[in-house]
Amino acid sequence: MAAMDVRSGLHPQTTAPWWREAVFYQIYPRSFADSDGDGVGDLRGIFSRLDYLAGTERSLGVDAIWLSPFFKSPMVDGGYDVADHCAVDPVFGTLDDFDALVAEAHRRGLRVIVDLVVNHTSDQHPWFLESRSSRASAKRSWYVWRPGRDGGPPNNWCSEFGGPAWTYDPATDEWYLHSFAPQQPDLNWDEPAVEAAMHEVMRFWLRRGVDGFRVDVVHKIGKDPLLRDNLGTFVGPSHHRPGHRFDEDWPSVHPRLRRMRRVVKEFGERMMVGEVYLLDQAAMAMYVRWDDELDLAHNFHFMNLPWSADLIRTAVCELDRLLEPRGWPTWCLNNHDHPRVASRYPGEAAARLSAVLLLTLRGTPFLYQGEELGLRDGAIPEEQRVDVAGRDPARCPLPWEPPSVAGPGAGFTAGNPWLPIAPDAETRAVSRQLDDPQSVLSLYRALLALRRREPALRVGSMAVFDGTGPVLAYRRGVPTASLLVLLNFDGQPATVRAADVGRLAIRGTIEVSTTMDDLGRGVEAPEVELGPFEGLVLREA
Ligand code: NOJ
Repeated sequence: MAAMDVRSGLHPQTTAPWWREAVFYQIYPRSFADSDGDGVGDLRGIFSRLDYLAGTERSLGVDAIWLSPFFKSPMVDGGYDVADHCAVDPVFGTLDDFDALVAEAHRRGLRVIVDLVVNHTSDQHPWFLESRSSRASAKRSWYVWRPGRDGGPPNNWCSEFGGPAWTYDPATDEWYLHSFAPQQPDLNWDEPAVEAAMHEVMRFWLRRGVDGFRVDVVHKIGKDPLLRDNLGTFVGPSHHRPGHRFDEDWPSVHPRLRRMRRVVKEFGERMMVGEVYLLDQAAMAMYVRWDDELDLAHNFHFMNLPWSADLIRTAVCELDRLLEPRGWPTWCLNNHDHPRVASRYPGEAAARLSAVLLLTLRGTPFLYQGEELGLRDGAIPEEQRVDVAGRDPARCPLPWEPPSVAGPGAGFTAGNPWLPIAPDAETRAVSRQLDDPQSVLSLYRALLALRRREPALRVGSMAVFDGTGPVLAYRRGVPTASLLVLLNFDGQPATVRAADVGRLAIRGTIEVSTTMDDLGRGVEAPEVELGPFEGLVLREA
């Protein structure tokens, strides 16, 4: 055993806020379940599939859902272009449908958080229409308007979707800023009225009973007020993505988050998880402040790592050191913006190994719909592509039933799905996997069940071992239980010796294995050999 990195977890008797112990499941409403046959998923569709998520013996067993935007929108960016933050887009249903969904989810003990899109609105939002109407408009200052420079945009900032982050508006002869599509003008957070309006949006949903927010690109609500040019690929302090020195992560973001936190606190135990898309864990960790800023932040450094036990080990240990003492990690490998794990890593083997990883690391896991089925990215014919940034493949509708049983809509819709159903629907459909004890879905259910009954996994300490080569090895523990997790990231067998994990012998019972074989089998040996991409969770004797 070489170096070991230990952090003592909360004692199980300590009251942990619910979001620390919860497993979140992201629903992309457009692709989850369609109740009315128009080919697009909707809120009633989600309602009708709640059994799948929580509340029955056969449910997946997650604790909270995060709903991606279902607000009124022209859908230029899949609903992240919001035209009314407090209205449900008719394609997804009504506010009554939303209320019914929250009530039913809560009845099952399932919390609900919603996306909060704070950095920008749709160009069809009444605020922007008014802002754009004249330079003298009362809402002119709600967005970022500037005169051009040398006949071009005011500075060199770029849109995340490519091209300049500025669009010229001939009617008022000024340019407006948009960090994403031109149809998504950035709000001006230096204008206090914008902040106050966004607080009201938060209160609107908190009053309706949501348990918190996933705050979209939250690192972008602080920008250099002088709008200075970005510095090419310069990398330096307070600059955490090449080319973004001045257009995000400005210090003003922190007091803004603090004030958002105060709004959330008016409503008791609600939470905020931020999409802090900084590729540097140190910068991201600054956003996670107990009872002060964000409770959790998605970790995009982790999400973008190559398939490597070493790199994952380093990231996990590094984040542990970077978070404030009461800070809490968040682990996520899939969402609606990224190629799926089974496509970007070695296939189903990666889907299985990453399931064990996400659900046994110390921190709060976020799963993305379909991950629990081991879905791959879809191949989208050119004429069916919808997304402005090529992210359709990860957004294909869920297969609930094999097409041979339920027809081409695969139980997702009775109509024509808006994007092709996810690949391998015949073999990976929910109904196929539910009764197959070795399916990826069964592995997820076993891991979630283990996590529910095992405080060591939810709140226990974690010791990560060095010197185990392609095997990521760590131990989770509370005074009454110890679980050893061994994950072989290699396509070749690998051996872990007892000494590598601080023991004289590896001794215990297999709780979960990636193959779903050998559950309950006892192990007592000086070393354990793992198959290619095999993972084990061992309850130590
Ligand atoms: C992040 C969201 O996850 C992504 O889908 C969206 O395009 C951008 N934010 C802009 O809102």
